[in-house]
Amino acid sequence: MNVRKVILWSLGTQVLPLLWLLQQPAIADEEPPVPFTYGAGLDKYQKMCAECHGRWADGTDQGPPLIHAYYVPSHHSDEAFYRAILQGAKRHHWTFGDMEPVPSATMNDAVNITKFVRWLQQYRKLY
Ligand code: HEC
Repeated sequence: MNVRKVILWSLGTQVLPLLWLLQQPAIADEEPPVPFTYGAGLDKYQKMCAECHGRWADGTDQGPPLIHAYYVPSHHSDEAFYRAILQGAKRHHWTFGDMEPVPSATMNDAVNITKFVRWLQQYRKLY
């Protein structure tokens, strides 16, 4: 093999695929593989919470991320989640303002949504 062929070969088989790989979005942008058992919570979360807390709970300009050390179970218990959803939460950690109660949410929704958020927190290795 002459030198030019070797260079072309390595460009095609090694350098270009590497460049392609580097351009792919980071792993964090991928859709988390939510297990089927959390489907109901995922669905309600997307309808009731995502507009403020983000599609994958990473926050928006309307509300904080729930994938955050503040919101792990040792800081905000499941009951704190139920309370926020059903009764709202006063602004205290951030500057987004108060969270209003989510009017259409039932206790059953709150339980399912919280289970889904806990799964996502663990999937993101917060605890
Ligand atoms: C209209 C925007 C909005 C929606 C919709 C919303 N939230 Fe919030 N939420 C906020 C804001 C703003 C805060 C931050 C309050 C603060 O400063 O600590 C917050 C705080 C929280 C907290 C922390 C409560 C505490 O005790 O500190 C939890 C848990 C929470 N939200 C869960 C949810 C869930 C689950 C849903 C869907 C059922 C939801 N939120 C829907 C805006 C929203």
